[in-house]
Amino acid sequence: MAKQNIYDNDVFFEGYKGIRDREVNANKLFEIPALFSLLPDLKGKRILDLGCGFGEHCRRFIEEGAVRVTGIDISEKMLKIAREENSDPAIEYINMPMEDLGKLAENGEKYDLVVSSLALHYVEDFAGVVRNVSNLLREGGEFVFSQEHPLNTCHVGGNRWTRDENGKKMFLNLAYYGVEGEKESTWFVDNVKKYHRTFSTVINTLSEGGFSVERIIEPMPTAELLEKYPDYADLFHKPDFMLVKATKKHKGSY
Ligand SMILES: C[S@@+](CC[C@H](N)C(=O)[O-])C[C@H]1O[C@@H](n2cnc3c(N)ncnc32)[C@H](O)[C@@H]1O
Repeated sequence: MAKQNIYDNDVFFEGYKGIRDREVNANKLFEIPALFSLLPDLKGKRILDLGCGFGEHCRRFIEEGAVRVTGIDISEKMLKIAREENSDPAIEYINMPMEDLGKLAENGEKYDLVVSSLALHYVEDFAGVVRNVSNLLREGGEFVFSQEHPLNTCHVGGNRWTRDENGKKMFLNLAYYGVEGEKESTWFVDNVKKYHRTFSTVINTLSEGGFSVERIIEPMPTAELLEKYPDYADLFHKPDFMLVKATKKHKGSY
C-alpha cells in the first residue's frame, strides 16, 4: 500500500513548522488539550506515539511520569527536531512508517498506552494499524488518537465554505462524505494525500479490532475563547478534529 512521506518535502516541512511555531494555533487551543484530557494517569506507563513528529508529546509523557516512550515517525526531518529538542534517556525515536508496526510486535514489546496525534489520516490501511496496535497493547491498554475530522478528510477541492457578502463563513460545502479512500489536497504543496474514512468506519474498525470506544471529542470553542479568537466560531459549523479514546478488551470479552 502507498506510503507518503510529505513531511520530508522541504517546502511542506517549512510551511508546517511555521504553523506549529505560532504562539496561537488550532493545535494549541483545541487538539492538544483535548488529547491530553483523554489520557490516563501516565505515571509508570510504557507509551508508544505513532507519527510523533517533533516529539513534543513524547517529552511531555516523560514529564508526566511515563517510564518509557517510543516515538515513531516516517519523516527523518521531523525526527531530527525531535532528537535535538525533545530527547530524554527514556525516549527512543525510530524512523519507521506506522504501516510497519508489526516489526515492533515481533520483539515482544508491550505498551500500556498507544497515542497518535494527527497522523492516522495519512495512513491507507487503518484496520492494519488497529490490528498492530492491539498486538502491541497489554489487555486493558488504551489507544488514544486524534485525526482530522471526517468532515474535513472528505474534501476534494473547490471552496470549502459558502460565505456571505462580507466573507463570513455561513456554511460548509459538503460533498462525497460517503466516498472513502485517498483524497488529494493542496497544503503548502500540491498532491498531499490523506485518507478519508467515515465516522462509522473509524468506530466499526476499532470495534472489530477488539477495542471498546470509551469517548469521542469534537473540540468546540468556549465562550471565553471566542472572545479572544472570534474566527474560531466556524468550528460550530464543522469541527476540525476528532479524538477517540478506545480500550483493548480483555480476551474472551468479544
Ligand atoms: C500533523 S504531524 C503531527 C506530529 C505530532 N504527532 C504532533 O501532534 O505534534 C503528522 C506526523 O505524522 C507523520 N506521519 C505521516 N504519515 C506517517 C506514517 N505512515 N507513519 C508514521 N508517521 C507518519 C508525519 O511525518 C508527521 O510527523
